[in-house]
Amino acid sequence: MLKEQIEKTKTLNELQELYTNTFGKNGTMTVRLKEMKNLNNDARTELNRENTELRELFRNRQSELENEALNAALAGEKLDVSLNAEPENRGTIHPLTQSLSEISAILESFGYRRYTGPEIEDDWHNFTALNTPSYHPARDMQDTFFLLNGNVLRTQTSAIQIRAMESDGVPIKMFAIGSTYRREMDATHGPMFGQIEGLYIDKNVTLADLIGDIRAFFKKFFKLDNVELRIRPSYFPFTDPSIEVDMKWNGERWLEMMGAGMVHPNVLRNCGIDPNEYQGFAFGFGWDRLAMLKYNLPDLRDLYGNDVRWLKSCGF
Ligand code: PHE
Repeated sequence: MLKEQIEKTKTLNELQELYTNTFGKNGTMTVRLKEMKNLNNDARTELNRENTELRELFRNRQSELENEALNAALAGEKLDVSLNAEPENRGTIHPLTQSLSEISAILESFGYRRYTGPEIEDDWHNFTALNTPSYHPARDMQDTFFLLNGNVLRTQTSAIQIRAMESDGVPIKMFAIGSTYRREMDATHGPMFGQIEGLYIDKNVTLADLIGDIRAFFKKFFKLDNVELRIRPSYFPFTDPSIEVDMKWNGERWLEMMGAGMVHPNVLRNCGIDPNEYQGFAFGFGWDRLAMLKYNLPDLRDLYGNDVRWLKSCGF
């Protein structure tokens, strides 16, 4: 029977051949349909029904076989994704760089503008303009790397506040972040460390403005609701009065966070600014120390060690 033959076809080619034998030019049905005129009414109706039924069977089988062919092709092309891949060694941003962008974003949101300066400084910007002339004993506070031509590796980012005031004058609200160098090397000090310096000079700037900004900064940087500060008197040649700011850490111990103070009138004069008209504050603190506290890193020196295993062990 033709019906069963259609069902049994296995390929589209086979089906096509059968179709041609049935409905082609000399196909069995074609021949019978041509003879239709000789049939009585009932036989005609029956032949028409058969014709429709057969065509439908061919169509259905065709789509069945097409589906099978498609599925077979898809199964053949299937990708095996079960193979174990080599673990990917994905890089992250170094904690120092990460803290740099966070610190910058916070200070910029407070209206401080970022300045940079050279790491090899002349005596004027690193010391003399900062009210630390060559005979000044305070030069001993910072063991300095001298170059043969009398320049130094900058011992403090404070040099950048001098450059900023010289180039842009006052009022000014600026900050700088960068590496600084001192001849010290032990368990808690490296010869290079990062410093952040802030400076705000205008006509009515006070120490209270400084403390407000510092508190707001720590709140944002460490994501704390409340920051307890302790202000102690200190000494720096370029500020008067000078203070040291401590912060209560984890509600239990005081951490020394930064040096700060009102900019010394001599520093303003050295930059061509009249201290009777303008005044303001400066602050300076350890950038790597901030990163250590924030990311809970155990040893400051490792920050500069370039040891990827250490970075990964800290979660970077
Ligand atoms: N430059 C000082 C230091 O390196 C820090 C400081 C900066 C203090 C600005 C006061 C004002 O110790």
